[in-house]
Formats: sequence, C-alpha cells, structure tokens
Amino acid sequence: RDADGRLVFDLQLKEGSRRFLPGESTRTWGFNGDYLGPTLRARRGDHVVVNVRNSLPETSSVHWHGMHLPAAMDGGPHQAVAPTDTWSPEWTVDQPAATLWYHPHPHGATAKHVYRGLAGLFLVDDDAEAALPLPREYGVDDVPVVVQDRAFDGGNQFDDAPHLMSSAGVLGDHLLVNGTYGPYLDVSTRRVRLRLLNGSNARVYQFAFSDDRPLTVIASDGGLLAAPHATRRLQLSPGERAEVIVEFTPGETVVLRSEPPELMGDFFTDRVHGGDDRFDVLEFRAAAELADSPPLPDTLVEVPPLPVDEAVTTRTFELSGFRINKSKMDMSRIDFGVRRDSVEIWEIVNVDASLHNFHVHDVQFQVLSIGGEAPPAELAGWKDTVQVWHGRPVRVAMRFSDFTDPDMPYMYHCHILYHEDSGLMGQFVVL
Ligand code: C2O
Ligand code: CU
Repeated sequence: RDADGRLVFDLQLKEGSRRFLPGESTRTWGFNGDYLGPTLRARRGDHVVVNVRNSLPETSSVHWHGMHLPAAMDGGPHQAVAPTDTWSPEWTVDQPAATLWYHPHPHGATAKHVYRGLAGLFLVDDDAEAALPLPREYGVDDVPVVVQDRAFDGGNQFDDAPHLMSSAGVLGDHLLVNGTYGPYLDVSTRRVRLRLLNGSNARVYQFAFSDDRPLTVIASDGGLLAAPHATRRLQLSPGERAEVIVEFTPGETVVLRSEPPELMGDFFTDRVHGGDDRFDVLEFRAAAELADSPPLPDTLVEVPPLPVDEAVTTRTFELSGFRINKSKMDMSRIDFGVRRDSVEIWEIVNVDASLHNFHVHDVQFQVLSIGGEAPPAELAGWKDTVQVWHGRPVRVAMRFSDFTDPDMPYMYHCHILYHEDSGLMGQFVVL
C-alpha cells in the first residue's frame, strides 16, 4: 500500500525461458517471472493501482477479465502499451469475492501473447465470503489451478501454428497446470478448495476425478453461488472459472482428469476441437494425517435474480465464421450503446457448428436459459463467460452500472482466442 492507502501492484511483461520438458528450455513470456504471473489479491473497497510495464519487443495490453471498472482502465485493445512504456490503470474494487484473472488483449494478437505465458489470477475478497467457513489458506487448502494445453515442437518450443483441420487455432497435447507439466499436489487438509481457470486458448475441459468423487462447486466466474452444488463432471470453456471443494481421506492418491467434453457440434467438428481427448490434470497425494476442515455450509451468499421484467432491450448476437451479426471487429466502430443502470437481455446464437463461447467485459451476467431450458446449477451464479453450443441459444441478463464513457468502448467476444483475433468481437459503450 502507498501513503494514500492505495494497493499498488507492479506487473512487468518480459521474455524468459522455462524447462517444462526434459531437454531444451522453452522460450516464454511472463509477468515479473518466466511464465504466468503473480496472483493479485484485493478486498472489495480497495483502491487498486497496477503499474503495467511492457518489456517485450511488441505492443501488448493487460485486461482484468471479470472486473467491473471504467472502460479506460479495462485493458482491452484501446489501452495498448508500447514496448518500454508503463500504463497505470487505477480503480476501486466493488464487486463480490471472486476468482478473476488478467491477460493481454492486444488487437489481433491476444492468442499469441496468452499462449507464450501471459496470464495470472486476480482474487477479490469480501466480508460475505470471509464470514463463511470455507478453506482459504492460499497454497495450502485454497489452491489455484490454471489449466493450459500447449503443443511443443521438436526443439521444445511452443508451437502455436493453428491446427490444419480446425478453425479454433491451436490445440496442444501437453497440459500445464500453473505452468508445470505433470504436476502433483501434497494435500494436508481434509477439504481443499480449488480455483479452476481454463486458461487455454481453445481447449474445453470436462473436469472429473479418477474415482468419480464429487466436486462441490461453490463459485462460478463472478463469485459464490447461492448454495454448494455437488457434481461429478464440470465443464469449463476458455476463460471460465469455478471454485470447487474436494474431500480427501488420509494417505490416498487420486487424479483430477479431463474427460471428453460435450461440444455438441457434428462428429467431425467435435473431433478436431478436442471432443475425444482425455488428460490427467493434477494428482493429489494426501498425507497420512489430514487436518480437519470445517463442514461446508448449506447456503453461501445471496444471488438476487436481476429484474428481467424491467429489461429495456433484447439484443441478438449471431456467431458465425469469425463474425458477430455478420460483422468483423473494427476498432473504429462502436456497435451499440447501452444505458447506465438498465437491465438488458442478450441472446447469443452459435450459427455454425464450430466451438464458441461468449465473454462480456465490465459486467457479470446471469444465465437465464440455454436452449430454452433453465441453466444447470453450476451456471446459476454470476458469469462473465459462457459456452454457446450449436442449436442451443444462450440468454443472459445483465445490468450496466456506475461507469459511463461515450468514447471508450468495452468488448464482447468469443474467448476462443483465435476467433477473437480473427474478428469475432464487438464493442459497446455505456452512456
Ligand atoms: Cu478474457 Cu476480452 O477477455
Ligand atoms: Cu468462437
């Protein structure tokens, strides 16, 4: 904290290298270190300043994914940071406790910058979360799990050449967790909270344990759910997060896996998008004695439904062929304006059978329906990114509050990063 009580972080984008595999090291990019970045953490009410210094040979930017903040601080393509420059956004954190993240968002080059290693978590804390008996000792029983697939060439360098048959960009055959290949975690408590982030460019994961034990979901992208929800399978598309609680017994070993995800395109398309792929994600090794953890509460926080009957507009977004509603992203075109404090309903339609999801900056939304049906319990909280299957339109509701700027837009886009870079993105302003 500085003399004025502001929470100050320094993030430096830099080149580095890391030995992921036996043999040659891989050339990487990272924040402060070689790969990924520090977990930033702030409390609701904190005034945050981040000094973003670009020591890369290319222009980049840093976007606070999931954060509610003024458009000029958002770190999208309009907040480009040139080599050797420093950009210092500041804002007051005012949203529920959540697992957010940050990553570059330079125009047309997001996929490359994230693939090289630029990403990190941004955790928000608040009083409501702190009052609950949840595991929260960072690195002990509250553990970040950033999942990324990578392809390596024969010299152990990242290979980001797009897949020949697929329109999703690169799919890797090696999984990294928090930047480690083939990881394990020593467990010392009966319950562990995992903060899962799908930090991949294109791959969808369906998390499940090797013995099918439940993952109890307590939070989605934007904060805690109203109540814990136990499930044996949890699917996350790129950019999505979930917090889950897992129970362990002394002395055991169990593996978190990714099973073939539900992609719901056609047979061929699903196959080239990883629909048949399985991975071991993370092995858990429980100690011979485990410290007790408090039992999970039956309820968590209030998630008041947005007043959908007050919605002023319903907008439709058709995703197809690197376009939204037939338009490619244009930095100089604002697609529409929304009114501050208004509730809107957005309907997102996946027109081609390809893999898409949808992310909106500045807000957390509520999923009203998927293919006309109520969302599953794990999607019933605050979300900023949602998978959009072919033939199953997704309806979401959101409210735009606090910050207006007629000139500086926020983005909405597919979080398959190759799609985003190829034009599947649009811009709106809040008026
Ligand atoms: Cu995670 Cu517009 O980004
Ligand atoms: Cu897409």
